[in-house]
Amino acid sequence: MPKILILYYSRTGNTEKMAKAISEGAKTVQDTMVELTYHATPETLNTFDAIIVGTPTYHHDMTADVKRLFEEAAAKNVSLKGKVGAAFGSYGWSGEAPKLVLEIMKNRFEMDASEPPLLIRYTPDQSGLEQCMAFGKRIAEKLVRGLTVN
Ligand SMILES: Cc1cc2nc3c(=O)[nH]c(=O)nc-3n(C[C@H](O)[C@H](O)[C@H](O)COP(=O)(O)O)c2cc1C
Repeated sequence: MPKILILYYSRTGNTEKMAKAISEGAKTVQDTMVELTYHATPETLNTFDAIIVGTPTYHHDMTADVKRLFEEAAAKNVSLKGKVGAAFGSYGWSGEAPKLVLEIMKNRFEMDASEPPLLIRYTPDQSGLEQCMAFGKRIAEKLVRGLTVN
């Protein structure tokens, strides 16, 4: 069964609210396993078929935990080539972090990260949470479709 990792960091809870709604949306797609966590080791990353990373933007950057995980995965030559990747996060005014994550996924790890990042300003309202659910569902559907085609 295809496995989806939703890995997030959140200091004040906004990205966490997004992560939970994305997980709910992904779980509506049959025949997928969804793991929602705020901690992963580089070695476990390649046991998943899709990796969705949530990080708020602080000081125009992704959070240190997320950056460290990518650095360690790169140092250990963890292969994520061809896996589905996506990124999301709450932000205040510039929201660079999820875009930076996507660039690393595409350029360093050669992941299939074609879905635009999902950004929500501060706390997601009902419409924001619905966007998150739709985002999770879309990625899970893309994964299932891709695995069926290949
Ligand atoms: C010290 C600090 C620095 C921040 N820097 C940025 C920034 O550079 N760009 C931005 O878009 N938002 C910035 N923000 C806003 C946060 O991204 C926003 O509050 C977000 O909702 C936090 O998400 P979280 O609740 O998941 O931690 C900053 C907030 C704080 C407190």
